[in-house]
Amino acid sequence: MKRVGIIGCGRIAEQGHVPGYVELADRITVAAAADPAAARRDLVGERLGVPQAARYADYADLLARDDLDYVDICLPHHLHHAATIAAARAGHNILLEKPLAAREDEALEMIAAVEQAGVTFSLIHNYARQAVPGRVLELVHAGAIGTPYLVRFEGLGSYHYEGTADYDPGWRAKAARGGGGALLDNGYHSIYLARYLLQSEVREVFGAVGTFARDFEVEDTALALFRHENGAITSIQNGWGADRSMPAREIQGSQGSILLAGGESSIELWQGDQCERPAPWAPAPGAFTRVFSAFCDALDGNGPVPTTAADGLMNLRIILAAYEASRTGSVVKL
Ligand SMILES: NC(=O)c1ccc[n+]([C@@H]2O[C@H](COP(=O)([O-])OP(=O)(O)OC[C@H]3O[C@@H](n4cnc5c(N)ncnc54)[C@H](O)[C@@H]3O)[C@@H](O)[C@H]2O)c1
Repeated sequence: MKRVGIIGCGRIAEQGHVPGYVELADRITVAAAADPAAARRDLVGERLGVPQAARYADYADLLARDDLDYVDICLPHHLHHAATIAAARAGHNILLEKPLAAREDEALEMIAAVEQAGVTFSLIHNYARQAVPGRVLELVHAGAIGTPYLVRFEGLGSYHYEGTADYDPGWRAKAARGGGGALLDNGYHSIYLARYLLQSEVREVFGAVGTFARDFEVEDTALALFRHENGAITSIQNGWGADRSMPAREIQGSQGSILLAGGESSIELWQGDQCERPAPWAPAPGAFTRVFSAFCDALDGNGPVPTTAADGLMNLRIILAAYEASRTGSVVKL
């Protein structure tokens, strides 16, 4: 049985991580939880049976424990750096919510701390293990559309995912806390999916971002275009300010196309005028459950971590390059 301590008991801890740990109750015990908001640590603590004495206001007290197999960090972006470094220095293995950080210097310091401590580290790239994208990755990698050459994940949302009311629900829209807007928070997922689908790294980045429709310090609208090493192209659009939007999610290949019709709910595999509808993965186990299982397997020496720090760093560099391209009006090479 693995023992985990959760740091940050906000909305994604509640809505994503708690159900994952409930699904894995025969493999993982949540032994501790930390959050300065008592309501949050109690909510998560009650759902997962964390003893009252193991619910901490200060995560330093959780890190002082020596009975945890790993810590699961679900904090706002500006706190990833300090918490990851503190956890690594305390000798804990770490599973961290995306993004690695919002700044490259912070990300590099985190990676150095993890390497110096010799702990196991992984990031949560959960969309790659969701029912629809997970199945699409399998289909594309099995050659269902020949050689993929274009990923278009385009769709503009109307607002950001709000953080818990017990902390700062609008932290994502604040530069010092979110560190970036729709591209860093949501585009992040599309970017790693595109990289995994095309199996080729991004080498050229152009971006155009702006704040148009909301009173936010970070961008509410982001468009980015990437050229991958193998010549393939990705087009990303994310937003927090659209009143209505028509999402386009498709992958074009040399021998067919995959369309995620109805947003992301069903898969259409087209070859000429023939259309098949491959079933997505079953809803259970959920994406977070799959990530937690893979991380535990890695801790047991049975496989790689679900997402490496280098992978997360690459995703962050692409996003920062899109911001730079938007500022300078030029293509940024990676
Ligand atoms: N993988 C996904 O699909 C996904 C989805 C949503 C959010 N996230 C990520 O999860 C992270 C958290 O986002 P959220 O929406 O849950 O935010 P949130 O604001 O709802 O939760 C953050 C929690 O951290 C707590 N906190 C603040 N300072 C703390 C400290 N010093 N020690 C311990 N706890 C502290 C807050 O009280 C709050 O409960 C972010 O990195 C976000 O990008 C990932």
